[in-house]
Amino acid sequence: MTTSSMPVVLVTGANRGIGLEFVRQYLADGWRVIACCREPLNASSLIMLAATSGGRLSIRELDVTDFGQIERLAEALGDEAIDILINNAGFYPHGSFGDTDYEDWALAFRINAMAPLKMAESFVAQVGRSRLRKIVTLSSKMGSIADNGSGGSYPYRASKVAANMVMKSLAIDLKPLGIAVTTLHPGWVLTDMGGPNALITPEQSVRGMRRVIDELDLEHAGRFVAYDGQAIPW
Ligand SMILES: NC(=O)c1ccc[n+]([C@@H]2O[C@H](COP(=O)([O-])OP(=O)(O)OC[C@H]3O[C@@H](n4cnc5c(N)ncnc54)[C@H](OP(=O)(O)O)[C@@H]3O)[C@@H](O)[C@H]2O)c1
Repeated sequence: MTTSSMPVVLVTGANRGIGLEFVRQYLADGWRVIACCREPLNASSLIMLAATSGGRLSIRELDVTDFGQIERLAEALGDEAIDILINNAGFYPHGSFGDTDYEDWALAFRINAMAPLKMAESFVAQVGRSRLRKIVTLSSKMGSIADNGSGGSYPYRASKVAANMVMKSLAIDLKPLGIAVTTLHPGWVLTDMGGPNALITPEQSVRGMRRVIDELDLEHAGRFVAYDGQAIPW
């Protein structure tokens, strides 16, 4: 396969956790990967992967709260085709009843809910000219209203509910362009965010989500699906 015929995936928040595992697995399968992170110079795991990627891993600076930076990156990538856009970057602000940081809530809203739309608006041309044409966002079961049996976590839950709605509208709006959009729950994953009691490894989570992404088509767009393929109630 020539470099130009390899499929391309763009991942946000790619320097650690689930995002880094997406990078590892897509690289291992021969893809070209555009790995976005806030501090490329400190992204030691990505830098090591790039060294052995044969030029298939490009590390790009991107803070998803900086919408100007998102637009500039899209411009810089020009005519590049992006087969899969993965909005992975996420922020978990703590917030229980009587102890909620409202500034952090606003930040979570920007990172978790607004940035995925801004990314889609900015990269729609690159995704539209690709062969696979898919956009996914990592939400969370904690953003399921139907599944909420334990309360609390106001900022995170609310930001992920908003992300779910953004993705549902996006799935409808981008369908005429042949772009399949869906929302994923990665499971409870052993990362900095998931903590040490989490139930699955990033390797298991990403392997499962990649299967879901592989099977995603226009008919199955606009859903909320877990890493194991189970539908999550909104
Ligand atoms: N782990 C779980 O159990 C779990 C469960 C449900 C959903 N999720 C979702 O899965 C996604 C990945 O989670 P994770 O467990 O890998 O989280 P993580 O270990 O906390 O990593 C978060 C990633 O997002 C990046 N990020 C945060 N703010 C950013 C910003 N403003 N711009 C760009 N990147 C930013 C971080 O970059 P820095 O290193 O620069 O901070 C880091 O790369 C998130 O959307 C999360 O909500 C995770």
